Amino acid sequence: MTPKPNLDGPDRTTEAVSVLRNNDRGGYTVPSQHLYPFQWNWDSLFAALGWAKFDVARAWTEIETLFEAQWPSGMVPHIVFWSESESYFPGPDVWQINGSTPPTSGISQPPVAATIVRRLAETHGLPPRSLYERIERWHQWWHRARDPEGRGVIAITHPWESGRDNLPDWDLPLSRVTPTLIDGYERRDLDHVNPDMRPHNDDYERYLALVAYGASKGWDDAAIAQESPFWVADPCLTAVLLRAERDLVWLGEAIGADTIETHRRVDRLSEGFEQFWNPAVGAYCSLDLRTGVHADAATSASFLAPYGGINEHSDRLLDELEAWSNACTYLVPSFDPRHPSFEPLRYWRGPVWCMVNYMIATGLAEFGAPDWAERLRSDTSKLITLSGMPESFDPLTGGPVGGEHFTWTAALWLAWARGSNNGQGPKAEPTAR
Ligand code: DGY
Repeated sequence: MTPKPNLDGPDRTTEAVSVLRNNDRGGYTVPSQHLYPFQWNWDSLFAALGWAKFDVARAWTEIETLFEAQWPSGMVPHIVFWSESESYFPGPDVWQINGSTPPTSGISQPPVAATIVRRLAETHGLPPRSLYERIERWHQWWHRARDPEGRGVIAITHPWESGRDNLPDWDLPLSRVTPTLIDGYERRDLDHVNPDMRPHNDDYERYLALVAYGASKGWDDAAIAQESPFWVADPCLTAVLLRAERDLVWLGEAIGADTIETHRRVDRLSEGFEQFWNPAVGAYCSLDLRTGVHADAATSASFLAPYGGINEHSDRLLDELEAWSNACTYLVPSFDPRHPSFEPLRYWRGPVWCMVNYMIATGLAEFGAPDWAERLRSDTSKLITLSGMPESFDPLTGGPVGGEHFTWTAALWLAWARGSNNGQGPKAEPTAR
């Protein structure tokens, strides 16, 4: 007989601290040793939340190290190649960022920095003004480079820029990208993870075609905005930036900076967010800006509107969450579990990601749904208790998915999922479901 898992234990705290320490490369934390052997943008920022639970100075260093790689344009790259490694492809030679020290990728990732810096600042004191200014420049870049028309929605120019790489939302826009085989192409991710949990080769070849395209334009933001075959407004990125702008206002006021422009950006994004509403689905869905067509299903990002401070359609959103909870065991799957494209093991086509749960729960707690916020924390806690610290989790069985000994899973255990609300997670008091 298979022993019944003990969902009250073991306490994973010691293991979580070890994961962070083992993934520490001195100033930055790799997401997972072999699968992702460099510094990744939002992974590092969530890592800082975990570090702050036992080494606050190390948490600040994590963030400062990331911003050392900021481009003159203000962009903060999604990968910083501080060292060399054969275990990942594509490396700096494929991105062709000439003259960048350290070498980096040419795209960014959802900007959680201001929000996480505010979290740290509330408990541990304000950061240096220089960090605030760097974040401000990054936010300006998002608006200038990824919303040049000022529509109030933020585009991605590569699925990797969303952080949600193989989401079914990208299938149709990606189908217009001609796959390219580039010199030295060899998938390395499949050396480390079961192929059933990773994107298909077809997707990968298109990811690389988009890297080759960006490189061919010298990563020129204006050219990419005008011509890139992949240009899709993302509700996750937009909600994350909207919240980050509000948190930047808080930081700016605390530091004594002028926040007028930041307020304007908050207003623009708040007004623009409704463009994601897809009445046919009854949810916020990504929007292909080349065709004007919405994706045809809700994703976990549909529940991030309250995190961005958007509370329209809130009853509908909770009904949708209820429906999802009846279709899976653990919330929140990355994609609608009733949709034919749902795959519980394949990366962003189904698995539960604990940092997405943390962000959704934060928004739900603030907008008056503390029971749902607590349900998400409790599900995340059960998943980690059951399966340890993988990259993500199967929403049906709770089994581990993707890379092992994963930094952000460990960090979110320490900062939120384990349950002591001194982790500065959602502020609402936990209530019974
Ligand atoms: C990968 O290589 O799979 C990463 O998600 C890119 O950021």
